[in-house]
Amino acid sequence: MVFRASPDGPADESLLDPPELERAAAMEPGLRRAFVSGRLAQRELAADLLGTPARDLTCDYSCPRCGSGPGLSHGRPGYSRAGVGLPLLLSLSRAAGWTLVGAVLEPQPGTRLGIDIEDPRGTDFSGFEAVALTESERAAVTGLRDTELLQARARLWARKEAWLKMTGEGLTVQPGTVEALGHPEISDVDAAAAGLPAWLVAAVALG
Ligand SMILES: CC(C)(COP(=O)(O)OP(=O)(O)OC[C@H]1O[C@@H](n2cnc3c(N)ncnc32)[C@H](O)[C@@H]1OP(=O)(O)O)[C@@H](O)C(=O)NCCC(=O)NCCS
Repeated sequence: MVFRASPDGPADESLLDPPELERAAAMEPGLRRAFVSGRLAQRELAADLLGTPARDLTCDYSCPRCGSGPGLSHGRPGYSRAGVGLPLLLSLSRAAGWTLVGAVLEPQPGTRLGIDIEDPRGTDFSGFEAVALTESERAAVTGLRDTELLQARARLWARKEAWLKMTGEGLTVQPGTVEALGHPEISDVDAAAAGLPAWLVAAVALG
């Protein structure tokens, strides 16, 4: 399992595929910058791990609703080269001006990967527990306050989203029905060790 963190920044869009550029073109400038730099970080990590030039990779995404194939640029990430799918699991997440990409080279057949990063400040609203947490998770955060509460909420949310990216369902599933603490496939990721600011919260699901 390899992680690569990178801050949003100027990026060479010419390395992206036409469907990626089409998505980027529909975004407002801030989102576009984050999208493009995240996609480049992902492509460069894939190229490094596969030992191939980034330019030779073609997006090979799959979406539970839309299927997969050339032209699709949303859903679960992947790449092909010269029409052949490449043996690399990928997952990407963005928050607070940062992207984290996780990758597993030559995975066991059937293995799936999901990662997520969260800015704890994004969980600072009343009603978070009611919308996002299961009953046992609500009990686990009872009594926490301030920074500790936001960190605990973000940890649970990151674990849920990592799980939902691993399964491929994403937020088509009600997050309040997903047990963040009940799956041995989900682990916390030390944000600083992964190259992110230490105050961000990260999780990975692999199974
Ligand atoms: C997956 C999801 C929870 C992530 O949302 P988020 O927290 O706002 O964003 P993050 O930055 O953490 O993750 C975004 C990345 O998740 C990945 N992702 C998106 N859908 C995914 C899926 N179904 N399975 C696995 N990974 C997925 C992509 O790599 C995406 O990166 P991109 O913006 O470069 O395409 C959300 O995008 C979602 O629920 N998507 C699925 C909804 C769906 O299936 N819609 C049908 C579309 S037709």
